[in-house]
Amino acid sequence: MKLASIQAAESKLLLQTYERNPYLFVSGHGVYLRDDDGNDYLDLLSGIGVSALGYAHPAIEEAIRYQSTRLLHTSNLYYHEGTANLALRLTEISGLDRVYFCNSGTEAWEAALKLARAHAVRLRANDKQIGTKFLALEHSFHGRSMGSVATTHKEKYRAPFAPVMPGVEFVHFNDVEDLKAKFSNEVCAICIEPIQGEGGIRPVSKEFFSAARELCNATGALLLADEIQSGLGRTGKWFAYQHYGILPDVTTLAKPIAGGIPMGAMLCTEDAALAFTPGMHGTTFGGGPLACAVAIAVIDTMQREDQLAHICEVGGLFQNELRRLATHHDCIVDIRGMGLMLGIELNSAQLAQLVAAQMMERRIIINRTSDTVLRFLPPYILEREHVEFAINVLDEIFKANAAYAGASPAGEQTHG
Ligand SMILES: Cc1ncc(COP(=O)(O)O)c(C=O)c1O
Repeated sequence: MKLASIQAAESKLLLQTYERNPYLFVSGHGVYLRDDDGNDYLDLLSGIGVSALGYAHPAIEEAIRYQSTRLLHTSNLYYHEGTANLALRLTEISGLDRVYFCNSGTEAWEAALKLARAHAVRLRANDKQIGTKFLALEHSFHGRSMGSVATTHKEKYRAPFAPVMPGVEFVHFNDVEDLKAKFSNEVCAICIEPIQGEGGIRPVSKEFFSAARELCNATGALLLADEIQSGLGRTGKWFAYQHYGILPDVTTLAKPIAGGIPMGAMLCTEDAALAFTPGMHGTTFGGGPLACAVAIAVIDTMQREDQLAHICEVGGLFQNELRRLATHHDCIVDIRGMGLMLGIELNSAQLAQLVAAQMMERRIIINRTSDTVLRFLPPYILEREHVEFAINVLDEIFKANAAYAGASPAGEQTHG
């Protein structure tokens, strides 16, 4: 089927929830995606942070092949070999004690919110004074289900579905005084993305993260770190919170964990885990044999190939090159991020839209988030030559569009 016929069929048959770009990808290899005309695109977005080992990675192919010939599903009524093996790896790399498996980011975040409420019930049963309120951050994005969307800051994601889960208050980003003013015994959890993704690649400050940790310690509220975009090596450490030396009570993972097979996970401390007892929460598919087998292959490959060191090295080079670019182009307002989670903030939404589109015409995939930010979430197997190529193309595009800098804002593309 050709792109035009797929577009026509989708426009009639699918709910129109996505503004797709007019490209049809049929295969991928390494850091490249191939379209139906055989053109290769350098992928600096990896399916919004999912295809971390790139495409057609032999370890992922082998895990899928092996597991698909043995067992795909048993339900959570029974045991299989994968869950404990994967949980062992996740607890070792995270510093947390227990794992709950699910199928997506928003599901992992829902589990975290429910755990926080259930934890507060447990504390109240022990005569502790703690309420049901959540504090979330300005610019936050935690997903699209009702609880996740309630803790997501942008009005446009919440308003059409009102009333969403009540009891969420938003704190100004990195504003410690505002956090302290809004925190009380009414709060059961503080929700933080250590580096906000959809919100424009914004790292929380050490001061803010530490203040949140201290406030939670004082009342027994849980510190929830959403690492769905920043976690599993993306920033050069297994979890972005490890850059801060802060251990949250709960963290969530999804996107890259099973190399493109849907999977989510919520990890928490032994104490927080006590809040869930059998039957309180669950899912049919979560932690299935296929997703577990692939996730084990992803983590083992990352460890075997020392990919964290590679991410730091290539990510450092990428960030330096972006900073160098910023010295030549006035339209670049800021360079942010860590490892291979990077963003360029431009002075105009229209320019950001243009640059992303022109990168695509030059067969380099990036995207725009938070109106003015160009986002880079490349596969971890990115090499120096790819960075140099992308920087040269970006430089040419900025030069060619110098006249557009400062133009009026454009609307934002729908994102994940
Ligand atoms: C930080 C964060 N949390 C949650 C989500 C939601 O994940 P999913 O789209 O898998 O439900 C995302 C997705 O972009 C995210 O970046």
